[in-house]
Amino acid sequence: MEVCIRKATIDDVDAIYSIEQICFTSPWTHEAYVNELTNNQFATYFVAEFDGKIIGYCGVWVIIDEAHITNIAVLPNYRGYKIGETLLRQAMSFAKMNHAKQMSLEVRVSNEIAQNLYRKLGFQNGGIRKGYYMDNYEDALVMWVKL
Ligand SMILES: CC(C)(COP(=O)(O)OP(=O)(O)OC[C@H]1O[C@@H](n2cnc3c(N)ncnc32)[C@H](O)[C@@H]1OP(=O)(O)O)[C@@H](O)C(=O)NCCC(=O)NCCS
Repeated sequence: MEVCIRKATIDDVDAIYSIEQICFTSPWTHEAYVNELTNNQFATYFVAEFDGKIIGYCGVWVIIDEAHITNIAVLPNYRGYKIGETLLRQAMSFAKMNHAKQMSLEVRVSNEIAQNLYRKLGFQNGGIRKGYYMDNYEDALVMWVKL
């Protein structure tokens, strides 16, 4: 499968938002993504494109020497082809190139698939944020990796 990974622009906002709605129970708003892609100087988004269609994305904030993954998602029909892994590796090398020393993220304690991906790329368990997710008050596991 010929998948191209590139930086997102504001022209990708509708595609990112539609994947967000499909993949998350508490999606970020369209407005939030417009802000991420235009105003937030710390944010960079990568998209995965296949056959002219955006099928996944990953967002990263790099703030001085700390990086944080905001969201990562791949459309259901395209999962299991290493697209999520490729997107995350891209975000990690981008953060490293921009002088980040470590990267963190939050993940639902029940989301074993995503946790497997993060562990595969070297992330370790940090703390628990109690009731972090507003839809069902699920706890978040903080994971982090040295870059
Ligand atoms: C998490 C997600 C981005 C993974 O994307 P993907 O392209 O399907 O994942 P990949 O094919 O790159 O898999 C990479 C690794 O993830 C883990 N993984 C992926 N799918 C898995 C599955 N069905 N079961 C268990 N582990 C899985 C494995 O460690 C895998 O490595 P391996 O194939 O060598 O075993 C995707 O499942 C998704 O969009 N989920 C919904 C949104 C979400 O939960 N995002 C994370 C929020 S914190």
